[in-house]
Amino acid sequence: MRICYNQCTVKKNFFITFEGCEGSGKSTQSLLFCTHLKRMGIAAVHTREPGGTGVAESIRKILLNPKNSIAPVTELFLYEASRAQHMHDIILPALSAGKIVVCDRFTDATIAYQGYARGLDIAIIRRLNAIATGNRAPDLTIYLDIAPAKGLLKAKAIKNGGDRLDRETLSFHRKVRRGYLAAARGEPQRIRIIKTAETIEETQSLIIETVRNAKRGIPL
Ligand code: TMP
Repeated sequence: MRICYNQCTVKKNFFITFEGCEGSGKSTQSLLFCTHLKRMGIAAVHTREPGGTGVAESIRKILLNPKNSIAPVTELFLYEASRAQHMHDIILPALSAGKIVVCDRFTDATIAYQGYARGLDIAIIRRLNAIATGNRAPDLTIYLDIAPAKGLLKAKAIKNGGDRLDRETLSFHRKVRRGYLAAARGEPQRIRIIKTAETIEETQSLIIETVRNAKRGIPL
């Protein structure tokens, strides 16, 4: 469905995700982006994965607790279980209500982390992603690119040594980045790569410009 807004055509039910390696600033940037939409009078919801709703936030605590030793397949199922609940409780209802959903991480993270970095079968992950989401893919994905060594330092400093995933090796996080870049090469229309700038404001401007140029119907 399309409505007219500020002389632009606005596509309702727009689903935009933010991805990036640790310390890329995607949580800050996705929140700022959602606030920007709201200031323009657009109904928008900010949420995150893993988490976003009661059960999924409980799963998040298990997944990120550095004290937990979790087998790769268990980890995959926990991320997908969290996603299925999140879709059911938050994302699908918001999209059905005509809102724009801004989500901090989504299915591409599972491809990058559990697929490229953990080495699980990517075809199986795609199948599980499809089941967990009911085949609702993001309309647009902003991938914030940062050198893993730089991002990890930042993340660990902010998060007091880091969560269970932050504590993985640098080589693990380099594989995550390779996974994201491969996903972006595979779907260049949906996944837009943005190199993180020196300041939060500069990166936010790059994001707004990218969304505007993507011409997917968001009036920015
Ligand atoms: P974050 O809120 O700092 O992004 O923490 C979430 C962590 O979970 C981050 O290290 C990425 C990881 N993750 C996966 O490994 N697979 C997934 O499917 C998702 C959504 C996140």
